[in-house]
Amino acid sequence: MGRRKVTIVGAGRVGATATQMLAKKDICDVVLLNRTASTAAGIALDIAESSVVEGFDSKVIGTGDYAAMDGSDVVAITAGEQRKEGMSRDDLLKVNANIVASVCEQVKAHAPNSKLIILTNPLDAMVYLAKKKSGFQRERVIGMAGVLDSSRFGTFTAEQLGVGYSNVSALVLGGHGDFMVPMPRHTTVSGVPITNLLDAQRIKSIADRTRDAGAEIIKLEGSSAFYAPAASLVKMIDAIINDRKSLLPCSAVLSGEYGISGVMGVPVVLGSGGIERIVEIQLSDEERAAIRTSAGKIAESVMLIDKMGF
Ligand code: LAC
Repeated sequence: MGRRKVTIVGAGRVGATATQMLAKKDICDVVLLNRTASTAAGIALDIAESSVVEGFDSKVIGTGDYAAMDGSDVVAITAGEQRKEGMSRDDLLKVNANIVASVCEQVKAHAPNSKLIILTNPLDAMVYLAKKKSGFQRERVIGMAGVLDSSRFGTFTAEQLGVGYSNVSALVLGGHGDFMVPMPRHTTVSGVPITNLLDAQRIKSIADRTRDAGAEIIKLEGSSAFYAPAASLVKMIDAIINDRKSLLPCSAVLSGEYGISGVMGVPVVLGSGGIERIVEIQLSDEERAAIRTSAGKIAESVMLIDKMGF
């Protein structure tokens, strides 16, 4: 078997940053695909020219030709319009649904055995659409959101407690939106749940900041986050490519797990088979109610997708 191959669709800031991270960590060869081929080609060439100084062997190419994704182990879709200030992730639904649907047709044609990771917003609805348009089994259609939201929750937790970031293991479930569900009982500092370390008021304030974290970046920077989203994507790709069997919160298509038939951010085991297991953890009444509310919001967006006739 030669080197593993990953295609990143969309050479925006998330796609470009993820490509660089994958190469720098020598995880796989990368094809960066973009509607405007020269943009992808330029970014790929620039990253490739860092190979000797960084000391990696990953090959990086940029192209506009979908046939280049042939044989990819993983295809990640980052293409789409991004949120602007004042926009909700759902405002993006119509425009991005068309983009994701057409990319999925290409994935089906050129990389029918790949695992598909979706980053385009509104995330959970796009996972539903990608599953529908690709025809892939649910094990191979995975949404990136929980890893990002958990990293944000963990970052704010570490800062609140004055401990190093790497001590923290954080968990956020639910949809990637205003109804995401931070899980304080399952967020720990070296094994100690933060419910033992912080009062309810402090936990609420970091949970609220986590829900608004995407908007906070847009407000500061004028455009959407990309370093943490790209790093989250790379963590998922690494879990699949290196068959790490990592327990990570991802958006997945559920058939009855957590009492839900639909899309939801839940803990899954990611390995070479994609989603190898959906893990059902015990929820408190409050957590269960929050997950239900989140599921209801996602179902509304899914209904819009069906109404649009995809
Ligand atoms: C965010 C966008 C990418 O959460 O959804 O930053």
